[in-house]
Amino acid sequence: MLDGLRQHPPIKLGILASGSGSNFEAIAQAIADQHLNAHIQVVVYNNPGAKAADRAAKFGIPAVLHNHRDYAQREDLDRAIIQTFQDYDATWLIMAGWMRRVTQVLIDAFPQRCLNIHPSLLPSFPGTHAVEQALAAGVAIAGCTVHRVELKVDSGPIIMQAAVPILPGDSADTLHPRVQVQEHRLYPAAIALTAWQNLQHGHKI
Ligand code: GAR
Repeated sequence: MLDGLRQHPPIKLGILASGSGSNFEAIAQAIADQHLNAHIQVVVYNNPGAKAADRAAKFGIPAVLHNHRDYAQREDLDRAIIQTFQDYDATWLIMAGWMRRVTQVLIDAFPQRCLNIHPSLLPSFPGTHAVEQALAAGVAIAGCTVHRVELKVDSGPIIMQAAVPILPGDSADTLHPRVQVQEHRLYPAAIALTAWQNLQHGHKI
């Protein structure tokens, strides 16, 4: 699979991040380590002071702030994101801790090339506080999911999942970091798998 992708020019990623950006950094590191044949064209973040912007600087990747508070409608923010991605020639939309609802306007601009990561085994526990929801429900296995993006929050065809056992005495503070270890492993692999699937189906990558 990876050999097929290596013969192709690097896929051109744009990242959306709201906060820490550890998933963004895991993708950037996978690219630097030549585990993923891609290039991150730009990072868009919506919260001033998001650590994702510092991580972008570390990798020499442009970071652009689109503060959602400056846009009257969700579609207005999404159109601004599309324009920025076009300006930086990003053809994939990778949501990495993007805590805003997106609209069909944004999804339609990246057909077959729009992914999200979520800290649960979807379809269980979509939305915010997924790790807390899993703990409150008393499940034995938590995890994370990378999926293609559809309009409903944290929904769409699943690309990859990883399971994380819940240990006695776990809290969100102890469980979420273990989920994130798996997220960081999963996301670069899921991007590569999606590109490969797209090639198999004759879609652009
Ligand atoms: C990640 O755990 C990601 O799965 C979650 O936000 C965190 C961002 O961490 N996303 C969602 O909950 C989406 N509904 P990061 O900023 O360190 O990558």
